[in-house]
Amino acid sequence: MAVTGLLLLYSFWLKHSLQLSVTCDQLLRLQFMAQKRNLTTVNCQDPKVWTIKSKGRLGNQMGEYATLYALAKLTGNQAYIMPEMYDWLSPIFKINLPVLSKYMIVKLPWRNYELHDWMSEEYKYIEGKYVKLSGFPCSWTFYHHIREEILREFTFHDFIRDETNKYLEQVKGTRKNATFIGVHVRRGDYVNVMPNIWKGVVADKTYLEKAMSYFRNKYQEPVFVVTSNGMEWCKKSIDASSGDVYFSEDGVESSPGKDFAILAHCNHTIMTIGTFGYWAGYLAGGETIYLTNFTLPDSWFLKLFHYDAAFLPEWIGIPADLSLLRNDLPWNKKKAKYWHNIN
Ligand SMILES: *[C@@H]1O[C@H](CO)[C@@H](O)[C@H](O)[C@H]1NC(C)=O
Ligand SMILES: *[C@@H]1O[C@H](CO)[C@@H](O)[C@H](O)[C@H]1NC(C)=O
Ligand SMILES: *[C@@H]1O[C@H](CO)[C@@H](O)[C@H](O)[C@H]1NC(C)=O
Ligand SMILES: *[C@@H]1O[C@H](CO)[C@@H](O)[C@H](O)[C@H]1NC(C)=O
Repeated sequence: MAVTGLLLLYSFWLKHSLQLSVTCDQLLRLQFMAQKRNLTTVNCQDPKVWTIKSKGRLGNQMGEYATLYALAKLTGNQAYIMPEMYDWLSPIFKINLPVLSKYMIVKLPWRNYELHDWMSEEYKYIEGKYVKLSGFPCSWTFYHHIREEILREFTFHDFIRDETNKYLEQVKGTRKNATFIGVHVRRGDYVNVMPNIWKGVVADKTYLEKAMSYFRNKYQEPVFVVTSNGMEWCKKSIDASSGDVYFSEDGVESSPGKDFAILAHCNHTIMTIGTFGYWAGYLAGGETIYLTNFTLPDSWFLKLFHYDAAFLPEWIGIPADLSLLRNDLPWNKKKAKYWHNIN
Protein backbone atom coordinates (compact mmCIF):
# COMPACT_ATOMS: atom_id res chain seq x y z
CA MET A 1 0.00 0.00 0.00
CA ALA A 2 2.66 2.43 1.09
CA VAL A 3 4.65 1.74 -2.05
CA THR A 4 1.65 2.31 -4.28
CA GLY A 5 0.89 5.53 -2.45
CA LEU A 6 4.43 6.72 -2.91
CA LEU A 7 4.35 5.83 -6.57
CA LEU A 8 1.11 7.72 -7.05
CA LEU A 9 2.53 10.69 -5.24
CA TYR A 10 5.67 10.50 -7.31
CA SER A 11 3.82 10.33 -10.60
CA PHE A 12 1.58 13.20 -9.51
CA TRP A 13 4.65 15.22 -8.67
CA LEU A 14 6.33 14.27 -11.93
CA LYS A 15 3.33 15.28 -13.97
CA HIS A 16 2.83 18.60 -12.30
CA SER A 17 6.41 19.56 -11.72
CA LEU A 18 7.04 19.03 -15.41
CA GLN A 19 4.59 21.76 -16.32
CA LEU A 20 6.41 24.17 -14.06
CA SER A 21 9.88 22.96 -14.67
CA VAL A 22 10.17 23.69 -18.39
CA THR A 23 12.34 26.69 -17.86
CA CYS A 24 13.92 28.97 -20.33
CA ASP A 25 17.25 27.31 -19.71
CA GLN A 26 15.94 23.89 -20.53
CA LEU A 27 14.23 25.14 -23.63
CA LEU A 28 17.37 26.73 -24.87
CA ARG A 29 19.37 23.64 -24.14
CA LEU A 30 16.90 21.24 -25.64
CA GLN A 31 15.31 22.69 -28.66
CA PHE A 32 17.60 22.96 -31.61
CA MET A 33 18.83 21.10 -34.54
CA ALA A 34 18.13 23.75 -37.10
CA GLN A 35 21.03 25.51 -38.69
CA LYS A 36 19.05 28.71 -38.61
CA ARG A 37 18.06 29.15 -35.05
CA ASN A 38 16.66 32.30 -33.65
CA LEU A 39 15.93 32.23 -29.97
CA THR A 40 14.71 35.75 -29.57
CA THR A 41 11.11 34.81 -30.11
CA VAL A 42 11.00 32.34 -27.21
CA ASN A 43 9.37 33.92 -24.22
CA CYS A 44 11.46 32.57 -21.37
CA GLN A 45 9.14 33.50 -18.56
CA ASP A 46 6.27 31.68 -20.09
CA PRO A 47 7.41 29.22 -22.71
CA LYS A 48 4.75 28.23 -25.19
CA VAL A 49 5.51 25.44 -27.57
CA TRP A 50 3.21 24.64 -30.45
CA THR A 51 3.90 22.02 -33.03
CA ILE A 52 2.19 19.86 -35.63
CA LYS A 53 2.49 16.20 -36.50
CA SER A 54 4.66 15.53 -39.51
CA LYS A 55 2.59 13.46 -41.93
CA GLY A 56 2.70 12.68 -45.63
CA ARG A 57 5.12 13.77 -48.29
CA LEU A 58 6.36 17.14 -49.50
CA GLY A 59 3.03 18.83 -50.28
CA ASN A 60 1.45 17.71 -47.01
CA GLN A 61 4.53 18.77 -45.06
CA MET A 62 4.33 22.24 -46.59
CA GLY A 63 0.63 22.51 -45.75
CA GLU A 64 1.23 21.44 -42.17
CA TYR A 65 4.16 23.84 -41.81
CA ALA A 66 2.21 26.83 -43.15
CA THR A 67 -0.82 26.03 -41.01
CA LEU A 68 1.24 25.68 -37.85
CA TYR A 69 3.06 28.91 -38.67
CA ALA A 70 -0.18 30.82 -39.14
CA LEU A 71 -2.15 29.40 -36.19
CA ALA A 72 0.72 29.80 -33.73
CA LYS A 73 1.13 33.39 -34.85
CA LEU A 74 -2.57 34.06 -34.56
CA THR A 75 -2.71 32.74 -30.99
CA GLY A 76 0.60 34.25 -29.87
CA ASN A 77 2.49 31.01 -29.43
CA GLN A 78 5.91 29.91 -30.62
CA ALA A 79 5.85 27.32 -33.39
CA TYR A 80 8.38 24.49 -33.47
CA ILE A 81 8.58 21.74 -36.05
CA MET A 82 9.19 18.04 -35.70
CA PRO A 83 12.58 16.71 -36.82
CA GLU A 84 10.87 14.71 -39.59
CA MET A 85 9.37 17.88 -41.02
CA TYR A 86 12.76 19.54 -40.87
CA ASP A 87 14.18 16.61 -42.82
CA TRP A 88 11.56 17.07 -45.56
CA LEU A 89 11.71 20.83 -45.89
CA SER A 90 15.17 22.08 -44.93
CA PRO A 91 17.04 20.47 -47.86
CA ILE A 92 14.84 22.52 -50.21
CA PHE A 93 13.77 25.72 -48.44
CA LYS A 94 15.28 28.34 -46.16
CA ILE A 95 12.76 27.63 -43.42
CA ASN A 96 13.12 29.46 -40.13
CA LEU A 97 11.05 27.69 -37.48
CA PRO A 98 13.10 26.00 -34.74
CA VAL A 99 13.05 22.24 -34.36
CA LEU A 100 11.91 20.27 -31.32
CA SER A 101 14.42 18.01 -29.70
CA LYS A 102 13.53 14.36 -29.15
CA TYR A 103 13.54 15.06 -25.43
CA MET A 104 10.91 17.77 -25.66
CA ILE A 105 8.75 15.64 -27.92
CA VAL A 106 8.67 12.94 -25.29
CA LYS A 107 8.55 15.05 -22.16
CA LEU A 108 6.25 17.97 -22.76
CA PRO A 109 2.64 17.47 -21.64
CA TRP A 110 1.11 17.90 -25.09
CA ARG A 111 -2.47 18.73 -25.80
CA ASN A 112 -3.44 17.05 -29.08
CA TYR A 113 -5.67 19.05 -31.37
CA GLU A 114 -6.95 17.72 -34.66
CA LEU A 115 -7.68 20.14 -37.50
CA HIS A 116 -9.87 19.82 -40.54
CA ASP A 117 -8.67 21.28 -43.80
CA TRP A 118 -10.22 24.74 -43.70
CA MET A 119 -9.98 27.60 -41.26
CA SER A 120 -12.66 27.73 -38.56
CA GLU A 121 -13.54 30.40 -36.07
CA GLU A 122 -12.71 28.15 -33.10
CA TYR A 123 -9.11 27.78 -34.27
CA LYS A 124 -8.52 31.37 -33.22
CA TYR A 125 -9.08 30.37 -29.62
CA ILE A 126 -7.18 27.10 -29.21
CA GLU A 127 -5.75 27.08 -25.72
CA GLY A 128 -2.69 25.42 -24.30
CA LYS A 129 0.98 26.05 -23.85
CA TYR A 130 2.04 22.76 -25.39
CA VAL A 131 -0.22 22.07 -28.32
CA LYS A 132 0.39 19.40 -30.92
CA LEU A 133 -1.80 19.99 -33.95
CA SER A 134 -2.60 17.18 -36.36
CA GLY A 135 -4.57 16.40 -39.49
CA PHE A 136 -3.61 17.10 -43.09
CA PRO A 137 -4.23 20.85 -43.28
CA CYS A 138 -3.16 22.58 -46.47
CA SER A 139 -5.92 25.11 -47.19
CA TRP A 140 -4.96 28.69 -48.05
CA THR A 141 -7.72 29.77 -45.64
CA PHE A 142 -5.27 29.22 -42.77
CA TYR A 143 -2.43 31.40 -44.01
CA HIS A 144 -3.21 33.43 -47.11
CA HIS A 145 -3.48 36.62 -45.05
CA ILE A 146 0.25 36.27 -44.32
CA ARG A 147 1.18 35.04 -47.78
CA GLU A 148 4.42 37.03 -47.89
CA GLU A 149 5.70 35.34 -44.75
CA ILE A 150 4.75 31.90 -46.00
CA LEU A 151 6.49 32.52 -49.32
CA ARG A 152 9.55 33.72 -47.44
CA GLU A 153 9.60 30.46 -45.45
CA PHE A 154 9.42 28.53 -48.73
CA THR A 155 12.31 30.35 -50.38
CA PHE A 156 14.46 27.87 -52.29
CA HIS A 157 18.11 27.48 -51.43
CA ASP A 158 20.28 29.45 -53.83
CA PHE A 159 21.83 26.40 -55.46
CA ILE A 160 18.40 24.97 -56.27
CA ARG A 161 17.21 28.29 -57.69
CA ASP A 162 20.34 28.55 -59.86
CA GLU A 163 20.12 24.98 -61.14
CA THR A 164 16.44 25.41 -61.92
CA ASN A 165 16.95 28.65 -63.81
CA LYS A 166 19.72 27.01 -65.80
CA TYR A 167 17.37 24.15 -66.70
CA LEU A 168 14.57 26.51 -67.77
CA GLU A 169 17.04 28.56 -69.82
CA GLN A 170 18.00 25.36 -71.62
CA VAL A 171 14.38 24.47 -72.25
CA LYS A 172 13.71 27.96 -73.56
CA GLY A 173 16.31 27.51 -76.30
CA THR A 174 16.12 30.23 -78.91
CA ARG A 175 12.63 31.44 -78.02
CA LYS A 176 12.52 35.21 -77.53
CA ASN A 177 9.36 35.54 -75.47
CA ALA A 178 8.79 32.26 -73.66
CA THR A 179 6.08 31.78 -71.03
CA PHE A 180 6.71 28.77 -68.83
CA ILE A 181 3.79 26.63 -67.71
CA GLY A 182 4.56 23.99 -65.12
CA VAL A 183 2.35 20.92 -65.50
CA HIS A 184 2.01 18.52 -62.60
CA VAL A 185 0.19 15.27 -63.27
CA ARG A 186 -0.47 13.42 -60.03
CA ARG A 187 -0.79 9.70 -60.56
CA GLY A 188 0.94 6.96 -58.54
CA ASP A 189 -1.24 5.75 -55.67
CA TYR A 190 -4.05 8.17 -56.59
CA VAL A 191 -4.81 6.17 -59.71
CA ASN A 192 -6.07 3.48 -57.31
CA VAL A 193 -7.18 5.58 -54.40
CA MET A 194 -9.51 7.93 -56.28
CA PRO A 195 -11.85 5.35 -57.81
CA ASN A 196 -11.53 2.71 -55.08
CA ILE A 197 -11.83 4.82 -51.98
CA TRP A 198 -13.21 8.21 -52.96
CA LYS A 199 -15.57 7.47 -55.86
CA GLY A 200 -13.56 9.89 -57.91
CA VAL A 201 -11.23 10.22 -60.85
CA VAL A 202 -7.76 11.53 -61.59
CA ALA A 203 -7.07 13.92 -64.45
CA ASP A 204 -7.51 12.48 -67.93
CA LYS A 205 -6.17 13.36 -71.35
CA THR A 206 -9.06 15.71 -72.17
CA TYR A 207 -8.52 17.77 -69.03
CA LEU A 208 -4.86 18.31 -69.88
CA GLU A 209 -5.71 19.24 -73.47
CA LYS A 210 -8.24 21.84 -72.33
CA ALA A 211 -5.84 23.34 -69.81
CA MET A 212 -2.97 23.47 -72.28
CA SER A 213 -5.05 25.07 -75.01
CA TYR A 214 -6.03 27.82 -72.56
CA PHE A 215 -2.38 28.80 -72.31
CA ARG A 216 -1.62 28.18 -75.99
CA ASN A 217 -4.36 30.64 -76.91
CA LYS A 218 -3.18 33.22 -74.43
CA TYR A 219 0.59 33.32 -74.85
CA GLN A 220 2.76 33.79 -77.89
CA GLU A 221 5.39 31.19 -77.01
CA PRO A 222 4.16 28.87 -74.28
CA VAL A 223 6.52 26.21 -73.01
CA PHE A 224 5.05 23.33 -71.00
CA VAL A 225 7.29 21.51 -68.54
CA VAL A 226 5.64 18.29 -67.41
CA THR A 227 6.44 16.61 -64.09
CA SER A 228 4.67 13.52 -62.85
CA ASN A 229 4.98 10.40 -60.80
CA GLY A 230 3.47 8.58 -63.79
CA MET A 231 5.63 9.82 -66.61
CA GLU A 232 4.96 6.87 -68.90
CA TRP A 233 1.26 7.71 -68.97
CA CYS A 234 2.06 11.37 -69.58
CA LYS A 235 4.26 10.62 -72.57
CA LYS A 236 1.55 8.41 -73.98
CA SER A 237 -1.29 10.83 -73.32
CA ILE A 238 0.07 14.34 -73.87
CA ASP A 239 0.45 15.37 -77.48
CA ALA A 240 3.95 16.86 -77.77
CA SER A 241 3.95 17.17 -81.54
CA SER A 242 3.84 20.96 -81.57
CA GLY A 243 7.29 21.10 -79.99
CA ASP A 244 6.32 23.10 -76.91
CA VAL A 245 6.17 20.22 -74.38
CA TYR A 246 9.10 19.04 -72.27
CA PHE A 247 9.02 16.07 -69.93
CA SER A 248 11.12 16.41 -66.82
CA GLU A 249 13.03 13.18 -66.48
CA ASP A 250 13.21 13.31 -62.75
CA GLY A 251 9.95 12.15 -61.18
CA VAL A 252 11.65 10.54 -58.20
CA GLU A 253 9.02 10.42 -55.46
CA SER A 254 11.48 10.09 -52.62
CA SER A 255 13.41 13.24 -53.64
CA PRO A 256 10.80 15.51 -55.13
CA GLY A 257 12.66 18.79 -54.65
CA LYS A 258 13.96 19.13 -58.18
CA ASP A 259 10.61 18.67 -59.91
CA PHE A 260 8.98 20.91 -57.38
CA ALA A 261 11.50 23.68 -57.94
CA ILE A 262 10.96 23.51 -61.70
CA LEU A 263 7.20 23.89 -61.32
CA ALA A 264 7.51 26.71 -58.80
CA HIS A 265 9.87 28.67 -61.06
CA CYS A 266 7.47 28.54 -64.01
CA ASN A 267 5.18 31.50 -64.70
CA HIS A 268 1.90 29.57 -64.58
CA THR A 269 0.66 26.20 -63.43
CA ILE A 270 -1.50 23.34 -64.58
CA MET A 271 -2.10 21.07 -61.62
CA THR A 272 -4.36 18.04 -61.44
CA ILE A 273 -5.05 17.01 -57.86
CA GLY A 274 -2.96 16.78 -54.72
CA THR A 275 -1.04 19.09 -52.46
CA PHE A 276 2.22 18.92 -54.46
CA GLY A 277 0.60 20.60 -57.47
CA TYR A 278 -1.30 22.98 -55.21
CA TRP A 279 1.92 24.28 -53.66
CA ALA A 280 3.61 24.55 -57.04
CA GLY A 281 0.77 26.85 -58.13
CA TYR A 282 0.83 28.82 -54.88
CA LEU A 283 4.57 29.45 -55.15
CA ALA A 284 4.62 30.13 -58.89
CA GLY A 285 2.01 32.79 -58.22
CA GLY A 286 0.68 33.08 -61.77
CA GLU A 287 -2.49 31.60 -63.19
CA THR A 288 -3.32 28.13 -61.97
CA ILE A 289 -5.67 25.68 -63.63
CA TYR A 290 -6.90 22.79 -61.50
CA LEU A 291 -9.21 19.80 -61.81
CA THR A 292 -12.42 20.32 -59.89
CA ASN A 293 -15.55 18.32 -59.05
CA PHE A 294 -13.56 15.13 -59.39
CA THR A 295 -15.68 12.90 -57.13
CA LEU A 296 -19.30 11.87 -57.12
CA PRO A 297 -21.43 14.16 -54.91
CA ASP A 298 -21.91 11.46 -52.25
CA SER A 299 -18.19 10.80 -51.82
CA TRP A 300 -16.78 10.87 -48.30
CA PHE A 301 -13.90 12.85 -49.74
CA LEU A 302 -16.12 15.93 -49.69
CA LYS A 303 -16.47 15.72 -45.92
CA LEU A 304 -12.71 16.19 -45.60
CA PHE A 305 -12.05 18.41 -48.57
CA HIS A 306 -13.84 21.58 -49.64
CA TYR A 307 -13.08 22.84 -53.12
CA ASP A 308 -13.48 26.48 -52.17
CA ALA A 309 -11.02 26.14 -49.27
CA ALA A 310 -8.58 24.12 -51.33
CA PHE A 311 -8.16 26.37 -54.37
CA LEU A 312 -7.75 30.14 -54.48
CA PRO A 313 -10.85 31.92 -55.80
CA GLU A 314 -8.96 33.40 -58.76
CA TRP A 315 -7.69 30.00 -59.92
CA ILE A 316 -9.46 28.33 -62.81
CA GLY A 317 -11.25 25.03 -62.21
CA ILE A 318 -12.08 22.62 -65.03
CA PRO A 319 -14.63 20.02 -63.93
CA ALA A 320 -13.64 16.38 -64.26
CA ASP A 321 -15.47 14.02 -66.57
CA LEU A 322 -17.37 11.78 -64.17
CA SER A 323 -19.49 10.16 -66.83
CA LEU A 324 -17.81 6.80 -66.41
CA LEU A 325 -18.60 6.80 -62.71
CA ARG A 326 -22.14 7.95 -63.21
CA ASN A 327 -23.78 5.31 -65.34
CA ASP A 328 -26.14 2.82 -63.75
CA LEU A 329 -23.77 -0.13 -63.69
CA PRO A 330 -23.07 -1.65 -60.30
CA TRP A 331 -20.11 0.02 -58.65
CA ASN A 332 -17.47 -2.59 -59.43
CA LYS A 333 -18.42 -2.60 -63.10
CA LYS A 334 -18.14 1.16 -63.19
CA LYS A 335 -14.73 0.77 -61.71
CA ALA A 336 -13.74 -1.76 -64.30
CA LYS A 337 -14.86 0.57 -67.05
CA TYR A 338 -12.99 3.43 -65.48
CA TRP A 339 -9.88 1.31 -65.25
CA HIS A 340 -10.10 0.43 -68.87
CA ASN A 341 -10.33 4.10 -69.74
CA ILE A 342 -7.39 5.43 -67.72
CA ASN A 343 -4.85 2.68 -68.29
C1 LIG B 1 16.56 36.96 -34.84
O1 LIG B 1 15.37 37.72 -34.73
C2 LIG B 1 15.57 39.10 -34.44
C3 LIG B 1 14.20 39.74 -34.17
O2 LIG B 1 13.19 39.16 -34.92
C4 LIG B 1 16.35 39.72 -35.60
O3 LIG B 1 16.57 41.09 -35.36
C5 LIG B 1 17.67 38.99 -35.78
O4 LIG B 1 18.35 39.49 -36.91
C6 LIG B 1 17.45 37.48 -35.94
N1 LIG B 1 18.74 36.79 -35.97
C7 LIG B 1 19.04 35.83 -36.83
C8 LIG B 1 20.38 35.18 -36.67
O5 LIG B 1 18.28 35.49 -37.74
C1 LIG C 1 5.30 38.45 -75.61
O1 LIG C 1 4.16 37.64 -75.51
C2 LIG C 1 3.03 38.26 -74.91
C3 LIG C 1 1.93 37.25 -74.82
O2 LIG C 1 2.46 36.01 -74.68
C4 LIG C 1 2.62 39.48 -75.73
O3 LIG C 1 1.56 40.13 -75.06
C5 LIG C 1 3.80 40.40 -75.90
O4 LIG C 1 3.45 41.46 -76.77
C6 LIG C 1 4.99 39.67 -76.46
N1 LIG C 1 6.16 40.54 -76.52
C7 LIG C 1 6.90 40.66 -77.61
C8 LIG C 1 8.06 41.59 -77.52
O5 LIG C 1 6.66 40.05 -78.64
C1 LIG D 1 8.67 33.66 -66.27
O1 LIG D 1 9.51 32.72 -65.63
C2 LIG D 1 10.87 32.86 -65.93
C3 LIG D 1 11.59 31.68 -65.27
O2 LIG D 1 11.42 31.68 -63.89
C4 LIG D 1 11.37 34.21 -65.45
O3 LIG D 1 12.72 34.37 -65.79
C5 LIG D 1 10.51 35.30 -66.08
O4 LIG D 1 10.88 36.56 -65.55
C6 LIG D 1 9.03 35.07 -65.86
N1 LIG D 1 8.25 36.01 -66.64
C7 LIG D 1 7.33 36.78 -66.09
C8 LIG D 1 6.58 37.67 -67.00
O5 LIG D 1 7.07 36.75 -64.90
C1 LIG E 1 -18.84 21.94 -59.42
O1 LIG E 1 -20.05 21.47 -58.88
C2 LIG E 1 -20.78 22.46 -58.19
C3 LIG E 1 -21.95 21.77 -57.50
O2 LIG E 1 -22.59 20.89 -58.36
C4 LIG E 1 -21.21 23.54 -59.16
O3 LIG E 1 -21.93 24.53 -58.49
C5 LIG E 1 -19.94 24.13 -59.76
O4 LIG E 1 -20.31 25.09 -60.74
C6 LIG E 1 -19.09 23.07 -60.40
N1 LIG E 1 -17.83 23.66 -60.81
C7 LIG E 1 -17.47 23.80 -62.09
C8 LIG E 1 -16.19 24.51 -62.34
O5 LIG E 1 -18.13 23.34 -63.01
